[in-house]
Amino acid sequence: MKILNFGSINIDKVYQVDHFVMPGETQSCQGFQVFPGGKGLNQSIALARAGAKVWHAGKAGRDGDWLVRLMKEAGVDTRFVAVSEQETGSAVIQVDPSGQNGILLHDGANGTMEEAFIHEVLAFFDKGDLLLLQNEINKVPEMIEAAWEKGMTIAFNPSPANEGIGKCDLSKVTWLLLNETEGEQLTGEKEPEEILSQLLFQYPRMNVVLTLGEKGGICYSEGRKFSFSAPKVKAIDTTGAGDTFTGYFLKGIAMGETAQAAAATAAKAAAIAVTREGASVSIPFYSEVQV
Ligand code: RIB
Repeated sequence: MKILNFGSINIDKVYQVDHFVMPGETQSCQGFQVFPGGKGLNQSIALARAGAKVWHAGKAGRDGDWLVRLMKEAGVDTRFVAVSEQETGSAVIQVDPSGQNGILLHDGANGTMEEAFIHEVLAFFDKGDLLLLQNEINKVPEMIEAAWEKGMTIAFNPSPANEGIGKCDLSKVTWLLLNETEGEQLTGEKEPEEILSQLLFQYPRMNVVLTLGEKGGICYSEGRKFSFSAPKVKAIDTTGAGDTFTGYFLKGIAMGETAQAAAATAAKAAAIAVTREGASVSIPFYSEVQV
């Protein structure tokens, strides 16, 4: 099974703040760093660090060469990353002392996918291969349709949650990986059990992983529901924790592991990631997760 991740590439500008900036407030920050990011890039790096072979497709501007180089160095196949005339996508990220973040996104090159490009990329993949998507590039609904037509397995992380998700035919998704906020956006429910029930009522063939941060998560796969826990750690930056989980979890599934085993490893990897600053740079290698 080949794994294709069609996803965003961002330059993350990260500000350490005392509290998230309020309307009308000007706040001096305690620190500033620039990191490679984007949910797509982060998840490709997580897959690669977990030990999977992954092809990344997407677009970066000329200012994003370094991000493509970095993915290549991490072992990601970047032959389907095209150069856009637009600037690379970017994120302004505030991180507070508890490690929580608030993110402001600018699409840039991530908003320039065209149908011809999608079909050109998908032509390299076959029935049974896995397509991973997030909600941070344009034409996600079209990608779901095209991959479904080919008989690819589709994993979708509907993040960030916005009205665009409504245009996606989720009945064609085999694995949905989401957090509580995204779950509420999709179902209108707040309670994890209710979110899961609603999703399964609407999409009975779907496998769902609902992550709950430090509380771990719940998963429904192949007729079985189970909870998993997250190791207790002191979080300093939660940015990219969900991406780390997604990459590690799907690597496990692609290798034929049970959902329980894949979720346990993924929760461990995400717990390590939150103890470090940045998104993709915080993702652990498989050797660190195994100790
Ligand atoms: O999931 C974390 C990512 O969200 C960051 O890297 C940032 O780029 C935003 O896309």
